[in-house]
Amino acid sequence: MKISFKVNGKAYTEEARPDMTLVMFLRDVLGLTGTKHGCDGGECGACTVLLDGVPMNGCLVLAPAIRGREITTIEGLAQDGELDPLQQAFIDHSALQCGYCGSGMLLAAKAFLEETPNPTREQVKKALSGNLCRCTGYLGIIDAVMTAAK
Ligand code: FES
Repeated sequence: MKISFKVNGKAYTEEARPDMTLVMFLRDVLGLTGTKHGCDGGECGACTVLLDGVPMNGCLVLAPAIRGREITTIEGLAQDGELDPLQQAFIDHSALQCGYCGSGMLLAAKAFLEETPNPTREQVKKALSGNLCRCTGYLGIIDAVMTAAK
């Protein structure tokens, strides 16, 4: 089925197979490989993207469901050649190790800070509890989000 939607502000009209998940659609059809494919079961958060500004696991959304919607992926976080303050804070705190969780972490944190601009560490931990880091680098990630919130 052909659907129209936006990704990172760009309008697309594409054929979307009804059995294809959003994460695979982004990666295999649109070539946006910054969104990672992990558990495929809504457990790890590696596939997190923003759907109309709300964090979603791309492995739990079927591609045709984005008809008329706006998606933000990690490729859309930097604007006009400038890193998002969250991205800079992740660099400054060496918050990523293997980096596989990074795009999902950053997008979940981005949506969280929009809603909660002055969070406590506990709120950050809770907000990112759906995003797993298999390197267990959580301290740097939380520090980075707290820095970006300042
Ligand atoms: Fe979607 Fe793990 S790949 S939550």
